[in-house]
Amino acid sequence: MRVSGVVAVLVVLLGLVIVSACARAATPTPTSGPKPSEGEALLRERCARCHGLSLVTSERESADEWRAIVEDMIRKGATLNADEIDALVDYLAQTYR
Ligand code: HEC
Repeated sequence: MRVSGVVAVLVVLLGLVIVSACARAATPTPTSGPKPSEGEALLRERCARCHGLSLVTSERESADEWRAIVEDMIRKGATLNADEIDALVDYLAQTYR
């Protein structure tokens, strides 16, 4: 009886240790957040030269519309290669839709 009581207590304690370890593992630490995407970096670097970013971030557009806007900005003087256009349009279409 006494031995099984001790075993029961140990089992409960072990359970608590496992649960708290899992809870800690599931909580992301503040320093390991998602890295800013390439698209976001491009937006900050290439799209704030002529006007504020709020002009961009206040828009809500579909992917096709964003592509047309980005191409329009390239005609105005923005510099982006084909890969950068894709990354930026993906980011804009997901974030500002
Ligand atoms: C070479 C300068 C320049 C750069 C770089 C630039 N823009 Fe623009 N953008 C403009 C001008 C000028 C306007 C205002 C156009 C107007 O008044 O009709 C504008 C307006 C806008 C607008 C408002 C809607 C519209 O079509 O007028 C959006 C959205 C926009 N830009 C997005 C962007 C994005 C996204 C980028 C980065 C790829 C970017 N811009 C980079 C010059 C630029």
